Amino acid sequence: MTDMAHPEGLEGVIAARTVLSEVDGQAGRLVIRGWTLDQLVGRTRIEDAVSLLFDGFFEDLPKDIGPALGAARVAVFEEVSALDDGLLKLGPVEAMRALIARLPDGEDLETALKLIAAPAVFLPAVVRLQAGETPVAPDAALSHAADLLRMLHARPAAPGHAEAMDAYLVTVCDHGLNASTFAARVTASTRAGLTSAVLAGVSALKGPLHGGAPGPVIEMLDAIGRPENARAWIEAALDRGERLMGFGHRIYKVRDPRADALKGAVRRLAGQSGRLPGRLAFAESVEAAALAILRERKPDRPLDVNVEFFTALLLEALAFPPAAFTGVFAVGRVAGWLAHAREQQVGGRLIRPQSVYIGPAPLRAA
Ligand code: ACO
Repeated sequence: MTDMAHPEGLEGVIAARTVLSEVDGQAGRLVIRGWTLDQLVGRTRIEDAVSLLFDGFFEDLPKDIGPALGAARVAVFEEVSALDDGLLKLGPVEAMRALIARLPDGEDLETALKLIAAPAVFLPAVVRLQAGETPVAPDAALSHAADLLRMLHARPAAPGHAEAMDAYLVTVCDHGLNASTFAARVTASTRAGLTSAVLAGVSALKGPLHGGAPGPVIEMLDAIGRPENARAWIEAALDRGERLMGFGHRIYKVRDPRADALKGAVRRLAGQSGRLPGRLAFAESVEAAALAILRERKPDRPLDVNVEFFTALLLEALAFPPAAFTGVFAVGRVAGWLAHAREQQVGGRLIRPQSVYIGPAPLRAA
């Protein structure tokens, strides 16, 4: 039950002041530290986005974090040897989270850079070991995006792929007070440390209502198979009470600007790959059918495409297995979690809201 004073899901509640990013749900605009998404994506690498987010939160932040981040990738790789059969039976994001939990807590730049490095190193190692292949050690001299792809595929990134990877990582690096960032901030507010904040973020991210959606987007596209099947498949899914993955958003009442940033990245890649233009055209036909049906069925609800729909297409084109998509999201979003955690540690108070008790009154003593 909800009421205006206590909105379900904290909808509309302002729970933090931040210099990091602004999500304007009416205008469909994302601003990260004074830059719009368009000004960043395609022009910056994830290293630059991390520097932008970390600026002012670490005294010893170097101008170019590339070498220190490369060294951090090399340093965290030694944790990969802890992946045993039990951990490898877990999903990739859970196994990756277990390795992150091995890193000590701390609040300094060294800890933060290891935490930026960790998902990018652990995820490819998990994916490769689960496929029966040997993990590939990091190359500190490469860019973060190029090294991530090389560690996954055991060969240098194909032309255009590192740029597409950067476009994705920058697109998702921060996004206001989303569920996982809120979880990270709550954890940081107790002064638990940055590793604990990142673990809280990963845990909140993995659910299908947040970062777990793009894998199911691929399942939906594969189940639909051909453009002419889209309407019937979508109608049947909605009749069963299911949600369409990759559509709808708590804040955006218009198109999620990240969807178009990623569609642009897919288009740029499509110029270089034989199969991708057809896959993109098919996905666009499914998107159009879904939007038309959602408008017919929920005329009062502004439901549009969100970041996850084209995430699925881009990560598929970069040959990540769908089970790893949520983990790739963490590779980018960890930057935002850490910046928010530092902002919370530096200037914030313990986050401790209240609840309204709606349970039974205590029994009267006989
Ligand atoms: N498909 C069908 N109907 C939907 C969808 C969808 N994807 N999203 C919302 N609706 C409907 C709901 O059924 C509800 O209808 P009702 O009022 O008739 O019951 C109405 O729209 C509002 O839904 P809420 O749950 O109140 O919206 P909320 O703001 O809580 O949810 C969310 C946002 C979780 C993203 C939702 O749109 C959703 O489940 N989408 C699918 C999963 C997804 O794509 N997640 C990724 C989000 S982006 C990100 O986190 C990075």
